[in-house]
Amino acid sequence: MSYENILTSIEEGILTITVNRPDKLNALNYKTIQEIGAAVSEGNHDKSVFGMIITGAGEKAFVAGADISEFSNYSSIEAEKLSRDGGEVFNSIEQSAKPVIAAVNGFALGGGCELAMTCHLRIASESARFGQPEVNLGLIPGYAGTQRLVQLIGKGKALEYLMTADMIPALEAHRLGLVNYVVPVGELIAKSKEILNKIGTKAPLAIAGIIKCVNSHFAYDEDGFNTEIYEFGKCFSTADFKEGTQAFLEKRKAAFKGE
Ligand code: COA
Repeated sequence: MSYENILTSIEEGILTITVNRPDKLNALNYKTIQEIGAAVSEGNHDKSVFGMIITGAGEKAFVAGADISEFSNYSSIEAEKLSRDGGEVFNSIEQSAKPVIAAVNGFALGGGCELAMTCHLRIASESARFGQPEVNLGLIPGYAGTQRLVQLIGKGKALEYLMTADMIPALEAHRLGLVNYVVPVGELIAKSKEILNKIGTKAPLAIAGIIKCVNSHFAYDEDGFNTEIYEFGKCFSTADFKEGTQAFLEKRKAAFKGE
């Protein structure tokens, strides 16, 4: 599939999706969000892919937010549709059965911070800065920033950053648990690949089960404890489970097939 606002490449089983509107600091208009969703879906359907990286083009920004020029004249009804449609894409990234890492190479503001938070892990460059500055525009976050920021850093700090619109420097984001690692910008993709490669040695269906269970913990209409019981049972009917346990007993490395 060809895209207008993102670049995609697959290398050694890892699909890298690069938001590519550097002159607009990679701001997310409607089309860009839909393209990211389509690319993640493609990654999930492509058997040669085991993990994904989302990053931004250029050195300045991961994504500097939703595209303000696109929605500045929207009515409430149009804004609700924008939020609902974008939210569906963001949820689909969070629910991706294959691991998705946000490689945050600069500003991750508004929708950019929300996009990073939908990914399963976040690796930030030392120059990255996070934030939800919507209140500066008379707005609140529209892609679940009020929910996922609380999940990741807790209610007290989330309320502070959501209400002050202050930017969160990379090291502070790391201290708060918003990002997993902070690395020099030149090492961002290598570190993301290193972690994905480690996850890639594990049983793919078990990884998909972990993602589902952890998401379930936060879903208002699901019970994470029950999801885990169900997903745990499901593992026992997979070939990978038989291979993993057999390999352990035979003192050899498991060869998982994702079956
Ligand atoms: N939507 C649309 N355009 C955006 C954008 C956004 N969220 N963020 C940046 N841009 C555009 C700017 O309008 C500018 O375009 P222009 O060159 O055509 O004028 C270009 O990207 C560069 O941004 P600029 O503001 O000149 O860079 P800067 O280094 O001075 O400031 C930021 C960087 C990130 C601090 C600043 O761009 C900013 O505050 N952006 C908006 C962040 C935001 O509120 N996001 C939440 C949106 S809901």
